[in-house]
Amino acid sequence: MKKKTNINGNINNHTPMIKQYLSLKSQYPDMLLFYQMGDFYELFYKDAERVSELLKITLTKKGYSNNKVVPMAGVPCHKSEYYLSKLVKLGESIAICDQKKGSSNYKNKLISRKVIRIITPGTITDEAFLHENEDNFIAAIWKENNQFGYSILDISLGFFGVSKIFHVSDFLAEIERTNPKEILYPENFSDMFLIEHRRCIRKRSLLEFDLDVSYKSLNLQFNTYSLNGFGIEKNNFVIRPAGCLLQYVKSMHMTILPNIRELKYNYMKDNILMNFNTRRSLEITQNISGEKKNTLSSILNKTVTSMGSRMLNRWLNSPLKNFNIVKNRHESVSILQSFYKELQPILRQVNDLERIYSRLSLRTASPYDFVRMRATLEILPNLHLILKNIKCKHIKKIRVSIGSFKEILFLLKKAISLKPSVSIRDGGVIASFYNDQLDTLRSIKKNSKEYIKNFESEEKRKLMIESFKIRFNKIIGYYIQVSKRHIHLIPQHYTRIQTLKNTERYSIPLLKEYEQKVSTSEIQSLCLEKKIYEDLFNIIEPFLEKLQDSALALSELDVLVNLSERSISLNYVRPIMSKKYGISLLESRHPVVESFLKTPFISNSVVLSKKQRMLIITGPNMGGKSTYMRQIALIVIMSCIGSFVPAKYALIGSIDKIFTRIGSADDLSNGCSTFMMEMTEISNILHNATSNSLVLIDELGRGTSTNEGLSLAWSCSRHLININKSMTLLSTHFFELTKLESIEKFVKNFHFTAIESNLHIAFLYKIKNGVSKKSYGISVASLSGLPESVIENAKIKLIEIENI
Ligand SMILES: Nc1ncnc2c1ncn2[C@@H]1O[C@H](COP(=O)(O)OP(=O)(O)O)[C@@H](O)[C@H]1O
Ligand SMILES: [Mg+2]
Repeated sequence: MKKKTNINGNINNHTPMIKQYLSLKSQYPDMLLFYQMGDFYELFYKDAERVSELLKITLTKKGYSNNKVVPMAGVPCHKSEYYLSKLVKLGESIAICDQKKGSSNYKNKLISRKVIRIITPGTITDEAFLHENEDNFIAAIWKENNQFGYSILDISLGFFGVSKIFHVSDFLAEIERTNPKEILYPENFSDMFLIEHRRCIRKRSLLEFDLDVSYKSLNLQFNTYSLNGFGIEKNNFVIRPAGCLLQYVKSMHMTILPNIRELKYNYMKDNILMNFNTRRSLEITQNISGEKKNTLSSILNKTVTSMGSRMLNRWLNSPLKNFNIVKNRHESVSILQSFYKELQPILRQVNDLERIYSRLSLRTASPYDFVRMRATLEILPNLHLILKNIKCKHIKKIRVSIGSFKEILFLLKKAISLKPSVSIRDGGVIASFYNDQLDTLRSIKKNSKEYIKNFESEEKRKLMIESFKIRFNKIIGYYIQVSKRHIHLIPQHYTRIQTLKNTERYSIPLLKEYEQKVSTSEIQSLCLEKKIYEDLFNIIEPFLEKLQDSALALSELDVLVNLSERSISLNYVRPIMSKKYGISLLESRHPVVESFLKTPFISNSVVLSKKQRMLIITGPNMGGKSTYMRQIALIVIMSCIGSFVPAKYALIGSIDKIFTRIGSADDLSNGCSTFMMEMTEISNILHNATSNSLVLIDELGRGTSTNEGLSLAWSCSRHLININKSMTLLSTHFFELTKLESIEKFVKNFHFTAIESNLHIAFLYKIKNGVSKKSYGISVASLSGLPESVIENAKIKLIEIENI
């Protein structure tokens, strides 16, 4: 074998086992190879070093091969799932290579081995490997003429989508929004810097993106002759990545994917567009440091099922432009206010039907999955009883989609034991009275045991041997054991099979006969159970599509009920979605800041309209500018997912995109200075914002000299007013910028104030018309604990400068 991957010199000098290992490993170079050695999985060389570091397990050595030490790390087979789950969650991919039973190659005593399972972060469906509250997307990308094709798939969700993306920033935003656990990219992909910071990116050969093959495999999946129905017939951009993705996922599962029924083209077109920076700075599902606390989701997402939690986070990341859907949600949230107390305890018992369902369609569902599905289906009648009383079209639709699945419930109650074993391999999964043949086989075992017990006591009495016992072990099967004191009482037809220190062991034909019967019936009953189990999948298969709809409907119900509960607990109001242009909020609050303030949150109003398109906001540092601007964007997002909002009144006109330019830490990882970042972001806004966009600019032009900064801020603002015509909120320390109000028709100045005394500064947090008279910089600085002399000197210097 002349493989380049031969890291250890000439392969012929290796031991036979390492040779076998290296040859298997060369097929999975970018995965950890779990190589079975009896009761352990062992990893060698680089893999060993890597897992020992990731799992904090000992790195040892497995002797020598090719005159070099072989580094090794291992985990016991029976604990492998635990370690696998840890590794997958860290973004690793694994190939599991098992010994083939009874297949040792006697010549060199090498057991044959075969890779029987491949686990990659984007293709898993096992419960233990998945994050309960996160979607698990896998993506494939394609680039041609500076445009991107982006395809994503979530097996559990049964979602398969593809989009053509025109700008790098939108491409990055989409990757960040969908957060794929694995990304496939073509070998000629030129913009590695866009994805190389992500975990588990996988280079694929161009052949896998082949247009013809992709086209055919998509048609095969959907049982179609053309892709016209999906609107992508001639769209190479999207066919290539979608085809590659589908083929890859199928090959990882080594089966077809029956739950992928359609391909959604341009699946983002109904969403309000938010780019990477916007999403990050508004802290929707992740805060600036990438954590979940103090995010909009942490306040709003108190759903009681994991499917609901995933759905709400999806909604939060993709607010809708389509008001009809949004209004239906608002209507439901409003009506559910009288029902959420009844509904939540029931929904709490709903298990993750979405993921169970995906395992059912891949035929990998565990007995426990069936139990949880049964428990979920069991609560549906109660749920329907309440839902039937709710007079609301949308809720009715949800109720119909939830369905009742009486046949399946009946089947599961009859077929699956109350407490089945973890795996079908262990038996004891199928309930008694479900299958006569199985019951018979099981009774043979039970009866035989009873027979042997009776035989033991009778024989003991007859032979008058006090120490007479019948025992069983795996090596010799059933045997009779007698203490050495009594061996003279043993009858002739007993055959001695083992002598121990104080006892003798015997066998008789009758025992052997029973043993045979028991073990045959046991094997037969295990086989039969497996077959019956397989049949259950067949019986359920026709219901799969409905189960998928039901899972989605239950998730949506959980989300709506949750939004309803939140609206009451947090004192939110139903927003009015209007065709009229603009945004108008009365006494609005910041949903996150208000939740952690110890003092009352001061509410504020805002009007953005055709006549008042840009608000220039001045005021002291810490005065509440950023909070105010963000709360307006957050309220728009909340409205457009169907939530109620923290305000007395909210009127939301149609919005197509939200942009923010909010100063955050330098993006050192990208090698950009704050100023350069700022300018790139502004340039993106000026190129893409429309009159229906909401733009938040929190201080512009700070990273350069005052005059230059001001001039840039000035010209950018004029562009936004006159060319983009967007709804803009702009905070600034440049007082000169407030002069725009007198030059431009649609600009209006607002400000925050504070009350200053010699010792103290108190912020009012109330927005007012006009310009802030002062900037309070020195007062605010004094709060920071700067030495008093420094503050005093600054005051003197200020007077000096202002008098020049
Ligand atoms: N409307 C408000 N009511 C009460 N406290 C507020 C309000 N707005 C802001 N704050 C408090 O003031 C702090 C600073 O607000 P921020 O918006 O960052 O000020 P700025 O952007 O003007 O420097 C916030 O973290 C919050 O604790
Ligand atoms: Mg600020």
